[in-house]
Amino acid sequence: MRLDKLIANCGFGSRKEAKALCKKGLVTVDGVVVRRSEAHIDPECNRVCVGEHVIEYEKYSYLMMNKPAGVISATFDEEHQTVVDLLEERYIYANVFPVGRLDLDTTGLLILSNDGGFAHRALSPKKKVAKIYHARVDKPITDSEIKAFGEGVTLDDGYKCLPAKLEAPEDFDDFAKVEIYEGKYHQVKRMFAALGIRVISLKRVEFAGLTLDEGLAPGDYRRLNEDELKIISNLLSKD
Ligand code: URA
Repeated sequence: MRLDKLIANCGFGSRKEAKALCKKGLVTVDGVVVRRSEAHIDPECNRVCVGEHVIEYEKYSYLMMNKPAGVISATFDEEHQTVVDLLEERYIYANVFPVGRLDLDTTGLLILSNDGGFAHRALSPKKKVAKIYHARVDKPITDSEIKAFGEGVTLDDGYKCLPAKLEAPEDFDDFAKVEIYEGKYHQVKRMFAALGIRVISLKRVEFAGLTLDEGLAPGDYRRLNEDELKIISNLLSKD
């Protein structure tokens, strides 16, 4: 890997800034000053330091964000702020992207990563990864909607969804918990719409066995911890 790329990916600014750090003689590889930022090093074997800081290399980044409303699940958009705009520069330089999409007005758990293989598996329809949402709806849910979700709702384009779980606690008229195993466009809103119910707000609370860290304020994010990484890798290694 190029030295300037490693330095930038690990949070020391852009590639240009990384080059400047090398030029100034602030970067050492195994204790030797390296000024050539284009030098190739092995981040898993070489010890790279920027000044006093030892670079801790991670091949891939995995982040959990509490996505706020009004921010788009994309890497670039001309009109709206994107979830990637909310990240520290180091993740932008490391090409982190959202794993799947939540609508502009949907909030909650969004995973971001630069591991394309992981994203592909997590989003593959074959994996039937579970996603749980909390919805506020405009009408009380009855047994008939619960049954319809369980049998598979047919959407406006004729697609018949996989059986899904719908729960509605009796003491809340406008709250519903939905668990789905696929990710069609606007799926939850369209499932309710097919039954004449409008979703007023939607929040994802679980994805692929991970639960939203409610300690994250909207727009905040953190790296997945060891346990969470294990949950994901176990789930995705299964056929
Ligand atoms: N279903 C929706 O309707 N919207 C989302 O953002 C996610 C699932």
